[in-house]
Amino acid sequence: MKYFSGIMLYNYMVILATFIQIYYCEGIEFPEKGKVPAFIVFGDSIVDPGNNNYIATVGKADFPPYGRDFPGRVPTGRYSNGKIPSDFFAEELGIKEFVPPYLDPKLNINELLTGVSFASGAAGYDPDSAKLANVLTLEDQLKYFKGYIKKLKAAVGENRTSAIISESVYLVCAGSNDITNTYFSLPFARLKYNVPAYTSKMVNWSSTFVQELYGLGARRIGVVSAPPCGCLPSQRTLHGGLRKSCADKENQASILFNGKLSTELSNLNQKLPQSRFVYLDIYNPLLNLINNPSQSGFEVANKGCCGTGNLAVSFLCSKLNPLGACKDASKYIFWDSFHPTEAAYKIIVHHVLQQSVANFF
Ligand SMILES: *[C@@H]1O[C@H](CO)[C@@H](O)[C@H](O)[C@H]1NC(C)=O
Ligand SMILES: *[C@@H]1O[C@H](CO)[C@@H](O)[C@H](O)[C@H]1NC(C)=O
Repeated sequence: MKYFSGIMLYNYMVILATFIQIYYCEGIEFPEKGKVPAFIVFGDSIVDPGNNNYIATVGKADFPPYGRDFPGRVPTGRYSNGKIPSDFFAEELGIKEFVPPYLDPKLNINELLTGVSFASGAAGYDPDSAKLANVLTLEDQLKYFKGYIKKLKAAVGENRTSAIISESVYLVCAGSNDITNTYFSLPFARLKYNVPAYTSKMVNWSSTFVQELYGLGARRIGVVSAPPCGCLPSQRTLHGGLRKSCADKENQASILFNGKLSTELSNLNQKLPQSRFVYLDIYNPLLNLINNPSQSGFEVANKGCCGTGNLAVSFLCSKLNPLGACKDASKYIFWDSFHPTEAAYKIIVHHVLQQSVANFF
């Protein structure tokens, strides 16, 4: 009888511990609704909700089948079948469901007050990445951010504006175009830098950029790591050999960049008062999905749903492509040859925030 109640007590404790874990981990870590006034985004196509629609570039995604699983099936310019990471971040932070592009001329003041994205597909830390595709460099994005601050001041005054700027959460997501396009697909950067030198230069650009943001009043700045660039379907096709394996050189470059970036952000936290620079690792969660797709309900990890799945991105993934797109994108980790599906993005963002959200506060 004594033994039996010991087991009962043990089971009771396990159940209690599980409940505490669920409530504690799921509830307490995340900020209360309204605590973060706005979510403000810079970077590349992973977080561009349609700024490139307003720019003369071939780097667009504002046509079907992009947006096929977005509410209303609208091809908004997001480089996916549905929502993108900036949307999921804003939603999980309790701010709003969709982060709009700053260049949309129809934005109302409530959208501005709760945050926008300045990101531009094909941009990178290396200014050449954006210039190659005639899109917004990070410096261009920063200029627009200064214009944004002016608009806030005109609408709600100096004091409320500085509170919004300092209390909001910022996301910077760049680096993959530098590695895959500017460095490994074109000769120019490789003539100038080896991989260690180029990844140091990328971190120098990144650090300069986030310090400029800090100078304008931002304090809570999340910086997204590089993904496993060599495992993007396009890079498997270009550099993965006959078996289309993950391209090792590009994964090694990503790892090298990520290590230096994470160290630099820790240094900045020491150096700049009240700063919260948060390194957000997407390398490992994405690689885990790619290596164990079925664990999360995926079936295809090595090619995209759209077009041929191997090289198709932007205009090569379009309704003009006779190969079309797969039936059910939620079975695929990648939507096109470069960008994950909404389903994969959702899992990764949730994981990243579980790991790191507390570091912003
Ligand atoms: C703005 O804040 C300053 C300092 O806290 C205060 O003196 C001033 O009255 C405030 N201005 C407005 C318009 O609220
Ligand atoms: C970037 O590199 C330049 C040139 O070496 C240097 O002067 C500058 O301090 C570096 N900036 C950062 C943020 O590391």
